[in-house]
Amino acid sequence: MIYEPLEDSHLLEKYVAKYSKGKVLDVGTGSGIQAITAMQNSEDVTAVDINEECVEFVKKKGVKSKKSNLFSKVKGKFDTIIFNPPYLPLDVLEDEESRLNTTGGKFGYEIIGRFFSEVGKYLKKDGVVLIVFSSLTNKKKVDKLITKNKFKFELLEILKVPDEELYCYLVKM
Ligand SMILES: C[S@@+](CC[C@H](N)C(=O)[O-])C[C@H]1O[C@@H](n2cnc3c(N)ncnc32)[C@H](O)[C@@H]1O
Repeated sequence: MIYEPLEDSHLLEKYVAKYSKGKVLDVGTGSGIQAITAMQNSEDVTAVDINEECVEFVKKKGVKSKKSNLFSKVKGKFDTIIFNPPYLPLDVLEDEESRLNTTGGKFGYEIIGRFFSEVGKYLKKDGVVLIVFSSLTNKKKVDKLITKNKFKFELLEILKVPDEELYCYLVKM
C-alpha cells in the first residue's frame, strides 16, 4: 500500500523545495513526492523505502531508488536527508500493511529514534535533515532523541490539522 500524500507530506514538501540541495536521500519515499520535489534542486537524488512496491513505483517515475530498512542499504554521505516517518503510536485495530505507513512503534517515536541514532553516519558535515511528525508522537521525546544524538533543530512550521499538530524540523549537526 503506497501512502497517498497527505497534509504531512505537503508540509514537508514545502520545505524540501526550499532547503534541499546537493546530494539528496529521501528515506521512506512512499509515492516519491519528496524525492521528485528535491529533483527540482538536485541532479543527485536517491530514494529508499522498506516497501518494494514503493521502490518500483518511484522507479517508474524516474527516481533512483532501492529497498532499504532505513539506512541498511545506503552508502555514502548526503547534503540533504528527508524523512516523513511512520510516527503514530500503535493502534492494534489497524492492519499491518497500513501500519508500515503510519506506526512508528508502541509509542510512535521509535523509528524516529532509530533514524537519529544512525543518520549522523550518512550526513555531510554541513548537511541538513528535513523531518515531519505529529503532536501524537510526543514532541518532547522527539526533541530529546534529536539533541541526545548531538543534533540541533529549528522548528520551521506548526500546521494545525483536526485533532493534531504537525511539526516540520530542519535538523543540523
Ligand atoms: C508516512 S509515509 C511517507 C511517504 C512519503 N515520503 C510522503 O512524504 O508522503 C512513510 C513511508 O516510510 C516507509 N517506511 C516505513 N518503515 C520504514 C523503514 N524502516 N525503512 C524505510 N522506509 C520505511 C513506508 O513504507 C512509507 O512509504
